[in-house]
Amino acid sequence: MSHPAPSPLTIGPRGALKGRVRVPGDKSISHRALMFSALAVGESRVEGLLEGEDVLATAAALRAMGATIERDDDGSWRIHGVGVGGLLQPASALDMGNSGTSTRLLMGLVASHAITATFTGDASLSKRPMGRVIDPLATMGAEITASPGGRLPLMVRGIVPAVPITYTLPVASAQVKSAILLAGLNTPGITRVIEPVATRDHSERMLAGFGADLTIEETPEGRVISIRGEAELAPQHIVVPGDPSSAAFWLVAASVVPGSDVVIENVGLNPTRSGLVTALRMMGADITERDARSVGGEPVADLHVRHAALSAITVPHDLAPSMIDEYPALFVAAAFATGTTVARGAEELRVKESDRIAAMAAALSAIGVAVTEHDDGLSVTGTGGGPLPGGATIASLLDHRIAMSLTVAGLHAAAPVTIDDASPVATSYPMFFATLDAVAPVAEVEA
Ligand code: S3P
Repeated sequence: MSHPAPSPLTIGPRGALKGRVRVPGDKSISHRALMFSALAVGESRVEGLLEGEDVLATAAALRAMGATIERDDDGSWRIHGVGVGGLLQPASALDMGNSGTSTRLLMGLVASHAITATFTGDASLSKRPMGRVIDPLATMGAEITASPGGRLPLMVRGIVPAVPITYTLPVASAQVKSAILLAGLNTPGITRVIEPVATRDHSERMLAGFGADLTIEETPEGRVISIRGEAELAPQHIVVPGDPSSAAFWLVAASVVPGSDVVIENVGLNPTRSGLVTALRMMGADITERDARSVGGEPVADLHVRHAALSAITVPHDLAPSMIDEYPALFVAAAFATGTTVARGAEELRVKESDRIAAMAAALSAIGVAVTEHDDGLSVTGTGGGPLPGGATIASLLDHRIAMSLTVAGLHAAAPVTIDDASPVATSYPMFFATLDAVAPVAEVEA
C-alpha cells in the first residue's frame, strides 16, 4: 500500500459552513468489527464500515489469513470468519500502510495462532514504537523480531498454546490493551489487562457482543479487564456509528468560522472518545446534542454546532485519553480563541502518525499563530475570533489529522493555507474534501 504522489491543496476562506454532514464510520470500531467477525464462526454483517485506507489494510490482512470479506452493493460488508484459532499462514508480508491500529491489534491476533506473519508499513508507521505490544506478546510466548528500536518491518511467530498473563499497561493505550485481549482469545485460561487510566473501550463492548467471556472490574489499581481464552465468537450484525474523530473537524470549523450552523449526524459519543466536545464547551462552543440514541451498543447523537466566541482554557489532563486524536483540531480551535490555551499532559502525541506536537507547532507558527511547544503539549495564543494570518505552506507529514486540521485553519485565514500533501486524508476520511465542498462551496468567480 504505497502512498500516491503528494497532492498539494490550497484552502482559503469560503464563508460560513451551513447544512448537514454525515461523518464516516468510526475507524476504531471498524477495525474491530472486521477482526472480531474474522474470528467468529459463520457470517457477520457490518453496516457503516469506514472505507478508508487504514481499515482496508486490516481487511486485506484478514483475507490473507483466511477470512472471506466482501462488500455488497448496498455498502454493507459480509465477513465469513475462520473461528478463534483458525487463522491461516499468510503467503506474503502484511502491508499495514499508515495504520498503527491494524498493526498492533493484528500482532496480538497472530501472537496466539500457529502462524508467522511479517508486518510492513509506510514511512510514518515504520517510525512508530511497537515495543509496547512486543513486550506483553513476548511474555505470552510469541517470538517477535523487530527492526532496530522495536519498529517495523517486524515478524511475529505466534505460539499455541500461548501463556495467559496479567499485564498492567505502562502507557494509556487502547491499542496495547486490545492487542493483549485479542491474543487472549486463543490462549487457555484467563488473560488480564489492568489499565490505570481508562482508554477507549470499543474492544470490550464488542467482544462482549460477540459472546466472549469478558469481565470488567473497577479496582484501586484501575480497570481490570479479564478475558477467558479458547473463546467461541458468534457472528454478529454490527452497525458502526459515525467517527467522533472525523466529526472533530466540523465541530471546530463551524465553531470558528463566523455565521456557521451545521448539524453533524450520527456521531459516536462514547465517553472514552468525547473529550473534545467537553473541551470545546469549556471554551464556550455552542454544541447541542439531538436525538441521543444507541447504535451498535455505543451512544450516538446528532450534534448541532453554531459559530461562537471561544475563550482560552487550560485543558484538564484527565481529558487526554478521551480526546487523544483530537488535539490537532483543538489546537486550531485555540488559535481562534481569546487568550492562551494550555494543552499539556499529552506526550503520546509525539508517537502518533507524526509527532503531532512538533508538527502542529511548526504548522501553526508558519501561518502566524503564537505557539509555545512543551514536551507534552502546546500553548496556543488565539486571535480572539479574527482570521489567522495564513499565507504559508505546511507539511502534513503523512498524517491525515494534520492535513484536516490545517484545512480548517485555512477556512478563516487572511491569506490561503497550502497543505503540501492532502492525500493522507484518505486513511480515515476519504470524503472529507467532498463534504467540505458541500457545506462550504467555493464561491463562483464573477466574470
Ligand atoms: C486507537 C487507539 C489510540 C488512537 C488511535 C486508535 C484504537 O491509540 O490514537 O488512533 O483504535 O485503539 P493508542 O492506543 O496508541 O493510544
